[in-house]
Amino acid sequence: MNIRDEFPILTRSSRGKPLVYLDNGATTQKPESVINAVTSYYRQHNANVHRAAHELAEEATALLEDCRNKAQAFVNAAHREEMIFTRGTTEGINLVAQVIAERVKAGQDIVISQLEHHSNIVPWQLLAQRTGANIKAIDITETGDLDLAHAADLITDNTALVAITHISNGLGSMIPVTKLIEQAKQAGALTLVDGAQAVLHATIDVQALDCDFYVFSGHKMFAPTGIGILYGRLALLNELPPWQGGGEMIDHVSIESSTYQQAPFRFEAGTPNIAGCAGLGAAFDYITKLPMKMLIEQEAALVRKALSGLKQIPGLRLVGEPAERASVISFLLDGSHPNDVGTLLDQQGIAVRTGHHCNMPLMTRLGIPGTVRASFSLYNNEDDVDALINGVAKAATFL
Ligand SMILES: Cc1ncc(COP(=O)(O)O)c(C=O)c1O
Repeated sequence: MNIRDEFPILTRSSRGKPLVYLDNGATTQKPESVINAVTSYYRQHNANVHRAAHELAEEATALLEDCRNKAQAFVNAAHREEMIFTRGTTEGINLVAQVIAERVKAGQDIVISQLEHHSNIVPWQLLAQRTGANIKAIDITETGDLDLAHAADLITDNTALVAITHISNGLGSMIPVTKLIEQAKQAGALTLVDGAQAVLHATIDVQALDCDFYVFSGHKMFAPTGIGILYGRLALLNELPPWQGGGEMIDHVSIESSTYQQAPFRFEAGTPNIAGCAGLGAAFDYITKLPMKMLIEQEAALVRKALSGLKQIPGLRLVGEPAERASVISFLLDGSHPNDVGTLLDQQGIAVRTGHHCNMPLMTRLGIPGTVRASFSLYNNEDDVDALINGVAKAATFL
């Protein structure tokens, strides 16, 4: 089986050249089964969920609730009620930042890291402004790994929350989240893992991780944009207040006051993204059928090949050489702005991302304006790697 055949967009050209899609860290392409699930929902099953007595509503509700079951299996959660539908990672983190506010006291610390995406920084700044808490960031080492000695210093019994990425979107570093969660638990802190980059590149087991919250976006794992999952520990979720008020999240409403449903509905006010759930459910099905272990190993081999080829290019500097790297390679060409390199690659049909990658504090820490980032997914192949190496070598001769 060639998994590329299942992604129709991969057959198109870009700038008149075969498309080489290496911007998977930003979003992944969609397989036929996901595209079909979304259109079939609108063609055959469209209705609002949880409300009406008719057959269409029953089917739409089943699609949505099936997706919840699949999400539960995907992250190995103990309860299906622990899976909350969101718009994506960003919304999941903002939701948590709002609902834990009463548990965060003035003067306490919220511990993040220098590697975080803005989505795992700004919501905590907003929370810190509301509560009088402090933000502290774990530093990185020369290689772009997390400085674990610094983490041990920062995580103390004054820590309210440790919120950390599973895989860095800027450098590809795999973070030893289990160790950090253990330290945070010992300190009595809450824990959140940003799994946006991990969903197709690491095994996710929230029970083994023992985190309080785990967030990810569907669009980075072959599903549509606008749908994502927040996992939260059930007992904790049911102690937390709602974040948005509206239909479906209530138990009883009078003009004066309301009572609320238990999780997950307490956190799902209003009509959800039902088509998104149809697509996400299909993405879970698709991934579950793939030989994931083999594909992740193949992807790692491609990344190694790309790294060794890129290193031969005169003037190329890798940004970050983490001990354990997922599918992201960041680099610079001496004397060239990353955007110029990106433009020259684009002219050759090669899609990469350039800039700060929503990692401004990381770029400031590294003293650079940004990087060129090639990020791989399970459908990339050796031709893509060769195109990248040749494309960058060509760009280097121009710049
Ligand atoms: C590590 C990380 N966290 C959070 C996000 C935000 O994800 P979304 O824009 O899907 O909410 C991203 C997206 O690139 C990311 O890479």
